[in-house]
Amino acid sequence: MLKTVVLIGGSGTNLQRLIDLENEGELKIEIQAVISHRPHAYGLERAKAAGIPTLCIDHTCFAAREAFEAALKDAILEMKPDLIILAGFMRILSANFVNAFTNQIINIHPSRLPLFKGLNTHEAALAAGVAVHGASVHFVTSDLDGGPIIAQSTVSISPTETPESLKAKVQVSEYELYPQVIQWFAQKRLSLKQDGVYLDNQRLPQEGVQL
Ligand code: GRF
Repeated sequence: MLKTVVLIGGSGTNLQRLIDLENEGELKIEIQAVISHRPHAYGLERAKAAGIPTLCIDHTCFAAREAFEAALKDAILEMKPDLIILAGFMRILSANFVNAFTNQIINIHPSRLPLFKGLNTHEAALAAGVAVHGASVHFVTSDLDGGPIIAQSTVSISPTETPESLKAKVQVSEYELYPQVIQWFAQKRLSLKQDGVYLDNQRLPQEGVQL
């Protein structure tokens, strides 16, 4: 059973999907705890409703990023998870934190990286006039949204698309994409080596598996 800690900051729909799949026995993971950096993140309620231990480490209570990350690091080290899953966690993580959990942190980002790093990705995709958009799951490094990509989803952009409609489409794709990648971890099929990401001992292309 893959021991995981899920880090959130918001609504937690991706978290809910993981909880549901875990409960249905479809995903062989144990969510040891859900940690939020915001006290009112709705995802905390989802975790509580599922009987999962929760913790809030409110970043606004810390004067500096280092102190916030030290508290987060200590809390996670105590749990000894196999995998740290970022799902709507909205804080930049510095090298100090990331290096404490080498190859053990993944994130889902709402764009086809390396396109549209950072915030407001749906607006950016529409402004750029690209034909397709999607989401990426990647290993987290101290390079923001720049870690090695594991897999990506693709959604088409219609002529009448709005940022809201596009966000909804991408999120639906995330609910398939993230569990699939986490399943690969649980099955010990994924690894990160010097020269890239490997699935079943095959090196993946830079943009990861296309799902
Ligand atoms: C997702 O769209 C994800 O791509 C981004 O944050 C959002 C989290 O949504 N990193 P939710 O909290 O899981 O609903």
